[in-house]
Amino acid sequence: MSKIRLLGTLCTAVAFVAMAASCGDNKTESTGWEYARNMYDPIGFNPDQPNPNFKNGLTAQVPPEHTTPVGFVRFEYANTLEGYEKAGVELKNPLIRNAQHLEQGAKLFKAFCFPCHGPEGKGNGPITQDRTLTTSKGSRKLENFPPPPSYSTGNSSRGGAMKDLTDGKIYHTITYGVGLMGSHASQLSPEERWKVVMYVHELQKK
Ligand code: HEC
Repeated sequence: MSKIRLLGTLCTAVAFVAMAASCGDNKTESTGWEYARNMYDPIGFNPDQPNPNFKNGLTAQVPPEHTTPVGFVRFEYANTLEGYEKAGVELKNPLIRNAQHLEQGAKLFKAFCFPCHGPEGKGNGPITQDRTLTTSKGSRKLENFPPPPSYSTGNSSRGGAMKDLTDGKIYHTITYGVGLMGSHASQLSPEERWKVVMYVHELQKK
């Protein structure tokens, strides 16, 4: 047997054994043989593991009351109509209005709001328009998303004209969403939200 052949046979044998060893027996949840088991289990406690080091026996401890995580910005207005109205009166954009903030707001708007609200906030974003999806299996019409009201000429479902929406109302909307619009709190940091608010004011004039 040539050396190459021998090597080939050896590799095939090793691959076969590895495959067989990694298979379970289909009856239990056994994962078969595991190599270096201690590399799977972290030395630290998992968040859901019991932990004798704490009085309540839990690993995931609740932060002490009245504390705020570093870098976390609180939003003290409730996700209710009252919270929306209150934010609308009390909150003012903490960022100064300048070209740089507006430009960043426009970029964020394009990424997160444009698909529904459209380039000028008129409620004609691409997903509200007729679209056809063509794949190797053929093409089909996609469902249209109901168009949101225009920022400049529409009316808010919560009362008043869209062009009169204040800083706080827009910020509240981005944070919690409204109706068919979802919350954008996990996509946009508080500072980014304020930049978008600044840009929405520009579109209210269009
Ligand atoms: C999935 C589509 C969608 C996306 C994305 C979206 N919106 Fe909306 N938005 C809507 C719809 C629909 C409404 C009308 C909802 C209602 O009044 O029930 C709305 C309403 C609003 C309103 C009016 C709120 C009020 O008080 O009546 C504002 C302001 C707004 N959106 C801003 C934004 C901003 C800023 C973004 C991006 C960060 C954004 N939206 C992203 C669909 C969307």
